[in-house]
Amino acid sequence: MKVLVVGGGGREHALCWAISASPLLTRLICAPGNPGIAEIAECFPVGSEDIEGQLALAKAEGVDLVVVGPEAPLTLGLADACAQAGIPCFGPKAGPARLEGSKSFFKDIANAAGAPTAAFGRFTEAAAARAYIREKGAPIVVKADGLAAGKGVVVATTVEEAEQAVTEMMEDRIHGAAGATLVIEECLVGEEISFFALCDGSHAIPLGAAQDHKRVGDGDTGPNTGGMGAYSPPPAFTEALQAEVMERCITPVLAELARRDMPFQGVLFAGLMLTKEGPKLLEFNVRFGDPECQALMLRLRSDILPALVAATQGELKDFDLRWEKLASILVVMAAEGYPGTPRKGTEIRGLEAAAQVPGVQVFHAGTARDDAGRLVANGGRVLGIGASGKTFQEAREAAYAAIAKVDWPEGFCRKDIGWRAL
Ligand code: AMP
Ligand code: GLY
Repeated sequence: MKVLVVGGGGREHALCWAISASPLLTRLICAPGNPGIAEIAECFPVGSEDIEGQLALAKAEGVDLVVVGPEAPLTLGLADACAQAGIPCFGPKAGPARLEGSKSFFKDIANAAGAPTAAFGRFTEAAAARAYIREKGAPIVVKADGLAAGKGVVVATTVEEAEQAVTEMMEDRIHGAAGATLVIEECLVGEEISFFALCDGSHAIPLGAAQDHKRVGDGDTGPNTGGMGAYSPPPAFTEALQAEVMERCITPVLAELARRDMPFQGVLFAGLMLTKEGPKLLEFNVRFGDPECQALMLRLRSDILPALVAATQGELKDFDLRWEKLASILVVMAAEGYPGTPRKGTEIRGLEAAAQVPGVQVFHAGTARDDAGRLVANGGRVLGIGASGKTFQEAREAAYAAIAKVDWPEGFCRKDIGWRAL
């Protein structure tokens, strides 16, 4: 099979790495890719949001399957374009991809499906939003309805803070049009888990869970980031909880989307809060998490390619995916300045030595080659150093031993990834 992977971050490097192990693969291409991906796939300089460019590439290279990493091309209709061209594409069409882009669409679908989420109100007028906040009291969560680059959520500890968020989002429009409608919801308390299900439109199978570390600093301090590391499987997420989430959250949501003529095919990423009353949905994403995907791929022992194909063919019922009883950890190395303005162009050395530590995989995210061919930092989250082991302790020791071999003084990482599992 010829496969095109769309994207160029750490998640896509992990997908390419897993796919490249498949005996079914004859050629792997990736666009735009990155220097790490270029070691295992042929990369083409087509941006992941260039829908026409990606489609033209898939046609020109005669690929048998397109695998989409990020959400943006899905929201922009890459899966729809592939369907029209008769090319199988792993990832949902633009309609169901709105589950990630619109908080109120997510709430509508979850409620219609009877899936547990936080109690909420939806508002297009600031006065009504403020009245609801005063009635419910704090803590309370204020969310801009549309996409706000991950910044549209305020978990307010006081009524004043929540009202301030209403002023900023709805009246001052700090997130633009995304703040025209606000979702205001009950503050859920518990441990946050990322759960992934592979879906073929009518059936879903569990892909496992991971836990992300969103804050930049050790001990979960400092500003939010895209994720400074992840580990899998999270001990708090038992088999029984997974079965409950499949039954109460995933299966009914798939059925509701199919009923609305928007069958969901691809990865459904459930952001869950494990509350005292049971697991509740915080949100859905329509793709793998980054860096959760890297941690998951390190544990997968089945060939992933037949599973992706089965999802696109509506053949996931009874599909059996195997996981090794391993623990995995992924530690992100970020460039100085992240999550503010990261410093670019600094040279990275020592990755060959790092990759030689047993159990370790090095994933590239924001790297580039400079004119002299040297590997340099070219983004905020630059590398993901992953490791698997029989225990979390073993995986963690391997990952940090590899990091010690990375010669990049301008990079930094958290030293406590996986602390909840230890
Ligand atoms: P979202 O953009 O919806 O993923 O929200 C960003 C983060 O805000 C989540 O990862 C949670 O940590 C937090 N959050 C969102 N909704 C709630 C809620 N209802 N209760 C508590 N925390 C929340
Ligand atoms: N790591 C969280 C995400 O990919 O959205």
